[in-house]
Amino acid sequence: MTLDFMEKYFLKNIGKKDSHKLSTYEESGGYQTIQKVFKLEPQKVVEEVKISGLRGLGGAGFPTGMKWGFIPKNISPRYLVCNADEGEPGTFKDRWLMDNDPHLLLEGIMIASYALDIHTAYIFIRGEFYNATQKVKEAIKECYEQKYLGKNIFGKSFDLDIYVHSGAGAYICGEETALLEALEGKRGLPRVKPPFPAIEGLFGKPTVINNVETLCGVKLILEHGAKWYKSVGTEKNPGYKLFPISGHVNKPGVYELPFGMPVQEIIEKYGGGVPEGRKIKGVIPGGSSSGVLTASELNTPMDFETFRGKGMILGTASIIVMDETTDMVEILHNIMHFYAEESCGQCTPCREGTMWSYKILNRLMKDEGTREDIETLKRIAKNISGTTLCALADGAAIPLKGFVEKFPEDFEKRIRAPRRETPKPVIMR
Ligand SMILES: Cc1cc2nc3c(=O)[nH]c(=O)nc-3n(C[C@H](O)[C@H](O)[C@H](O)COP(=O)(O)O)c2cc1C
Ligand code: SF4
Repeated sequence: MTLDFMEKYFLKNIGKKDSHKLSTYEESGGYQTIQKVFKLEPQKVVEEVKISGLRGLGGAGFPTGMKWGFIPKNISPRYLVCNADEGEPGTFKDRWLMDNDPHLLLEGIMIASYALDIHTAYIFIRGEFYNATQKVKEAIKECYEQKYLGKNIFGKSFDLDIYVHSGAGAYICGEETALLEALEGKRGLPRVKPPFPAIEGLFGKPTVINNVETLCGVKLILEHGAKWYKSVGTEKNPGYKLFPISGHVNKPGVYELPFGMPVQEIIEKYGGGVPEGRKIKGVIPGGSSSGVLTASELNTPMDFETFRGKGMILGTASIIVMDETTDMVEILHNIMHFYAEESCGQCTPCREGTMWSYKILNRLMKDEGTREDIETLKRIAKNISGTTLCALADGAAIPLKGFVEKFPEDFEKRIRAPRRETPKPVIMR
């Protein structure tokens, strides 16, 4: 995999020998920031994160400082849960961070816990991420040995324990309330909201849930300052983030770039363009739930606001490039298979809508579709969005609508040719 060659903050240690080890992390200034943070009032830390404009990097883009502000002051225990479930197709940034630099995440968790007076944190890691789980567990062990975790961490009067929980590889367990159910030992089904986790989360207590990359961002902001973070990106969406690039590109990989760069520039400058000079047909800009851009939309800047304005989402900013040889029916068929399989089944529009779409696409794949099928796909997309308990259904509706509307010629090709009328038998007299 290729590494970014621009400024490196998130990726600073990646590529170094034994980048996952405490010694490597400390050699490059690791665990200095938490010690600096201990000298600040916890509220000052929350303020710094608010000023930075950091937005959740797990997909929804909710302002992190504001989310932290919802935690009631007078209720304990309260918990921090790190969402390391990373199930969004096309997304491989959190795994990359945990595999290569788990101490960056741990320092982010320490800072967030101190800011919010939290003494127990959980990292919920996708079950398939065996390597990342091992790396994070080893890093936690190293921290306990150095008394960076446990009682009076770094010799200060602050206690913190961090536990790792392995998920079982269900996409829905990345949804924050389903994740909490799974962490409590129950089936991972999204909860009715409100109450939101900040008020009633894990074991009924106030809980902050943040993505791996968000918590790494917290560490970087407290190290370099909110001003530094705000110095790049856009006004409403400042800072750096990781952009995984995959599909038909010469240099797939994880790139660290500021928000707001046009998709085309990222693909050409960092992804190395499309192999053999082929043309781009479409791009999934932020994981499968984000929708699809046509070749004429590639000047779109990669930030949360712009995508919302287009009826799409930036999601995890994981770019999947599809060249001119791609069959968009096949891609959508694959995507809807995923959502039909991963719907937890609680809400009828999601459970039925994702499965119907998949079945219709099965028909189109056999060139046996009808014109009505195409209209039905559009109608399903409309009817399942905004009508369900969690955002999985919206995440299925956006690509469903996008692919069918933006690439009509691929779908038209799959309509069954009208059968010729059976000739009437000629009666010989
Ligand atoms: C179906 C579904 C799957 C999700 N999967 C993930 C995931 O794997 N990782 C993640 O961080 N957020 C995921 N989210 C978003 C979380 O619900 C939540 O917004 C996020 O963990 C909050 O962290 P952040 O504010 O730091 O982004 C998912 C949401 C939905 C609806
Ligand atoms: S929208 Fe889908 S995945 Fe989410 S709770 Fe409803 S049925 Fe489950």
